[in-house]
Amino acid sequence: MTDDKNRVVIFDTTLRDGEQSPGATMTHAEKLEIAELLDDMGVDIIEAGFPIASEGDFRAVSEIAQRSRNAVICGLARAQLPDIDRCWEAVRNAAKPRIHTFIGTSPLHRAIPNLSQDEMAERIEQTVSHARNLCDNVQWSPMDATRTEWDYLCRVIEIAIKAGATTINIPDTVGYTAPRESADLIRRLIETVPGADEVVFATHCHNDLGMATANSLAAVEAGARQIECTINGLGERAGNTALEEVVMAMKVRNDIMPFTTGIDTKKIMHISRRVATVSGFPVQFNKAIVGKNAFAHESGIHQDGMLKNAETFEIMRPEDVGLAGTSLPLGKHSGRAALRAKLKELGVDVGDNQLKDIFVRFKDLADRKKEVFDDDILALVTATTEGDDALQLVNLKVVCGTGGPAEATLEMEINGEDMSAVSEGDGPVDATFKAIRMLHPNKARLQLYQVNAVTEGTDAQATVSVRLEEDGMIATGQSADTDTVVASAKAYIHALNRLIVRRGKTGKDVKEISYRDVT
Ligand code: KIV
Ligand code: ZN
Repeated sequence: MTDDKNRVVIFDTTLRDGEQSPGATMTHAEKLEIAELLDDMGVDIIEAGFPIASEGDFRAVSEIAQRSRNAVICGLARAQLPDIDRCWEAVRNAAKPRIHTFIGTSPLHRAIPNLSQDEMAERIEQTVSHARNLCDNVQWSPMDATRTEWDYLCRVIEIAIKAGATTINIPDTVGYTAPRESADLIRRLIETVPGADEVVFATHCHNDLGMATANSLAAVEAGARQIECTINGLGERAGNTALEEVVMAMKVRNDIMPFTTGIDTKKIMHISRRVATVSGFPVQFNKAIVGKNAFAHESGIHQDGMLKNAETFEIMRPEDVGLAGTSLPLGKHSGRAALRAKLKELGVDVGDNQLKDIFVRFKDLADRKKEVFDDDILALVTATTEGDDALQLVNLKVVCGTGGPAEATLEMEINGEDMSAVSEGDGPVDATFKAIRMLHPNKARLQLYQVNAVTEGTDAQATVSVRLEEDGMIATGQSADTDTVVASAKAYIHALNRLIVRRGKTGKDVKEISYRDVT
């Protein structure tokens, strides 16, 4: 990659550890899109998936590998020969492939396959050598390293290096370590393990105690030169180290952390929003770097200070992470050229046809709102990237009040056929969802229903996320509208359309499920 001893390799695992978080499943097309954005942003290594886990994972890793340009494409494999072979099959067509193999080395993890220390050591030797015979770029991870006995950890790392591993990753799998301990562990391993100076040490932290960023940076200060991270900190349980946080910390505090990365930080905001949309995990408002409020100043004193000198309350410029510093307010008098300029400023590249479509929706929205904000525009872009769906909302009227149940009158187009239903419910959203289920009976279970106002004011656009689960399949739908109930209906229908695609069936097939089956 580079000989610069202060260059830190950024290993992104949004598509593997991130996608592994419950409910964050992405479609094939979404994975390809995110991989392309990561590559464009300058991520050094993309962990694209776990090829043996499913046919879908295998296909995604293979296609990402085939399309790869600059980044190394890595696949994950357990310490088993068929896993490693499958992983190699998926990544082998990448310009720069990597196999990442791992095994849990702590006492708790050793107990799962019921291997003694010696048996596990032998397995490590065998699997790492096998991987290295296939690929000259091999990463090995002792899972739960931070709870593994020191002597045993040194022993197995030495074995992995001798067997041909080129990167040794030290995972804090359960987010248990703390910054000083994280640094000590990396420093001592580099000083102690024979051959350590011939490999790259990596840090892989989880955020269970909210210390993943601090632990990763401490590891780098102690000699690690690869950080494993995800966009928005997506990942198992409380997530992984957030890419945007470690990268911006090293950039803004380069005076005390003199490390560099290959990341074009101006692309951070766009990819953060795309990952939030496709994963269905919205970014918390006050999230460092990419939260909606990260560069917002509300109080009079702050606004006054900002007007005099932005540095009074800002340690980095919004432009550095891809936010438009100044915004040209868009409204109903704006034309197509202004919309195109705004999309460009937001880092969104659209063709003429998509622009036409977004423009029609934009005009419609501008008629209903005083001012159309950047987030409104991005929500419109998301809405226009959808294809021809089996289920479409035609019309929705809801009557509700304090005196009784809400009543929804719904009209939908199902595979080109107009259908309508009236349903009562406990509130407008419940009545609407029931009416949708009357027209499109299904067994999908509602796992998540979340509403966010993406802009201020009572005329704000609401972004609604709906996550459905059916027979182990998970689909997330999102939509935005100034009317929360309409956004909810569209998000629910969006998720149902995704389930239909996943089942490989049409809406008509699904109608055969009896309404009585619906829970
Ligand atoms: O957290 C972890 O230990 C992992 C390994 C597979 C590297 O994700
Ligand atoms: Zn992990």
